[in-house]
Amino acid sequence: MNINKNYENLEQSYLFSTVAKKVSEFSSKNPDKKIIKLGIGDVTLPLCKKVIDAMHKAVDEMGVQATFRGYGPEQGYDFLRKAVQGYYKTHNVELDLDEIFISDGAKSDLGNILDLFNQDNTVLVPDPVYPVYVDTNIMAGRKVIFIDANGDNCFLPLPDKNVKADLIYICSPNNPTGAAYNREQLKAWVDYARGMGAIILFDAAYECFISDKEIPHSIYEIDGAKDCAIEFCSLSKMAGFTGTRCGYTIVPNALGKLNKMWLRRQTTKFNGVPYIVQRAAEAVFTEEGQKEIKENLNYYKENAKIISETLKKCNVWHVGGKYSPYIWLKCPNNMKSWEFFDYLLENAQVVGTPGSGFGNNGEGYFRLTSFGSKENTVEAMARFEKLFG
Ligand code: MLT
Repeated sequence: MNINKNYENLEQSYLFSTVAKKVSEFSSKNPDKKIIKLGIGDVTLPLCKKVIDAMHKAVDEMGVQATFRGYGPEQGYDFLRKAVQGYYKTHNVELDLDEIFISDGAKSDLGNILDLFNQDNTVLVPDPVYPVYVDTNIMAGRKVIFIDANGDNCFLPLPDKNVKADLIYICSPNNPTGAAYNREQLKAWVDYARGMGAIILFDAAYECFISDKEIPHSIYEIDGAKDCAIEFCSLSKMAGFTGTRCGYTIVPNALGKLNKMWLRRQTTKFNGVPYIVQRAAEAVFTEEGQKEIKENLNYYKENAKIISETLKKCNVWHVGGKYSPYIWLKCPNNMKSWEFFDYLLENAQVVGTPGSGFGNNGEGYFRLTSFGSKENTVEAMARFEKLFG
């Protein structure tokens, strides 16, 4: 038996597990202190009414012989795929039903998609970015190269024709910086990928925060993207499904074999998302569902404003919060990311995510999420102001 030695090249634990462990240690040593968690991007508002009603109805159906469901189609029920198809139409993107694959979330698919690609592919990853892209490729022993995202390029790096890559990750709006590519910039990535025969793995998990016509929700809004991009999205941030689990991946038929390979992979290794969850997800895409989730998204956007206003008052450099639930800030007093994490936990009992956990260029930065309750966000910011105001 030989174990996968590539695991030795990973950080000892996944970023958010390390954060959770540190918080839990602090909490057991300081049981009387109220900790406010603005670290992992986990939602706090409950599922909206339309979704809950659909779920209840589906639960009842499961208890009646005539409407009970066993195994469903691995790639998702047609009713949900049609709802996703309709949602893309609102962004002027036409998809065939067999290009839409329902999953239990973007994170799993972003890792699982790598089954389709050889180990000898070179992977291009922006730095900083969601750590799953790097970790899953390290596990598979693939060569990962980085493109710098920093203040000089407003955290939106553009392709360099001299760099050769086979798989390219783009997350827009970006986790952790909240920066989002406009059409022209995304077109540059599409042209680069097509010119090189590369595939873009486009993570659209935060598209629901976009409210500006200049910023595409989907990479398929760009001409030629269906020839070179796979898109991942999730209802986690859009509709509060972090615990409910549902997402979708688009593998265009224009990518040739890849669409059928993904179907083959999913039918072999995945048994689909529960019927009850898929009915809940379908409700998100109804007119009422969309209205209700927008109210929740606006609530989080208000929190982002509260965070941003406090940081302004404290003269702390920051971006984000406009197209994403994340505020990306420079650690005060030139502290390093983990140093600031410890300082803030110790002195204000506020938890954030160290920027260095998203890549080397994140060192000296810190991420706060607007997914907390308003009450906690206000309190966290009052504590912050006490320290740095
Ligand atoms: C984050 O905090 O970056 C996300 O919540 C992690 C995730 O979506 O898996």
